[in-house]
Amino acid sequence: MNLNILKEISDLKKQKNAVILAHNYQIPEIQDIADFIGDSLGLARKALEVEAEIIIFCGVHFMAETASILCPDKKILLPDLDAGCSLADSIDVNQLRDWKKKNPGAVVVSYVNTTAEIKAESDYCFTSSNAVKIVESIDKNKEILFLPDMFLGAYVQRKTNRKINVWPGECHVHAAMTYEEIKNLRDEYEETEVLIHPECACGSQAMYYSEKNNDKKMLFLSTEAMINRAKETASKNIIVATETGVIHKLKKNSPDKNFIPINKSATCKYMKMITVDKVLETLKSESPEVKVEKYIAAKAKTAIDRMVGLV
Ligand code: 13P
Ligand code: SF4
Repeated sequence: MNLNILKEISDLKKQKNAVILAHNYQIPEIQDIADFIGDSLGLARKALEVEAEIIIFCGVHFMAETASILCPDKKILLPDLDAGCSLADSIDVNQLRDWKKKNPGAVVVSYVNTTAEIKAESDYCFTSSNAVKIVESIDKNKEILFLPDMFLGAYVQRKTNRKINVWPGECHVHAAMTYEEIKNLRDEYEETEVLIHPECACGSQAMYYSEKNNDKKMLFLSTEAMINRAKETASKNIIVATETGVIHKLKKNSPDKNFIPINKSATCKYMKMITVDKVLETLKSESPEVKVEKYIAAKAKTAIDRMVGLV
């Protein structure tokens, strides 16, 4: 990495009272300059907690929007506004309104990977680390509209033993992960443990297999929970079923373990749009800023507060 750029970033951060928050899928160079790296929930909570005036959000657009709703007094900057999310794009607000009309009285439970407009039409928001807990907290007699990820929906349905209506959306990266790939890697390596993100298409089969065989070495976790689990497990070979960016932090935190991505090409092009040069430009120009219209932010706030545990 260019040391002059790093020095410039560090000086500007101090001068402008700015911090860099980065998601676990960011490129290694970004993770290495970040003040905090985490999963979606961790980043939202960190945005609330930090005293900085400016947050350089190294992640994707919906994450920056969520931070902006949570912290309206902070300037939230996203180094590339094109850093979107195929999962968030799998439902728009008109589709949700139609769905709600067809299911009057249903509780709308939305993944954090959605636009602010969708959150504004939702009762609850959740991340992969608290999806089960949030659904369990909802009155059993209420019908639930769960969106937008069908694989995460199937996972939550099985875990809560509750029938929920699930939107048929998917993330193009996680949808490409198959159970076959896990099986092949387990045949190839000894003493494996498998860490699976619940957005993965392989989830239902993996869950079925692990329950049937009482296999405790197949775990469903958010990206941050994967990092914590890898530190404590005795298994040496860890198969990772999620976007490959997480492997950088996994290796840093558990250098004694061998991390095997289920698919080496499982990368999110949106997450990789953020570069060190763009971070420097963003710090200099204090743009592009992500700001949510006031009335949408106000409507989305309760669902997001429920997600971060504020209410
Ligand atoms: P988490 O970091 O919450 O596990 O989510 C992963 C993801 O796909 C974010 O887009
Ligand atoms: Fe969205 Fe998938 Fe990229 Fe996560 S990995 S940001 S869900 S497209």
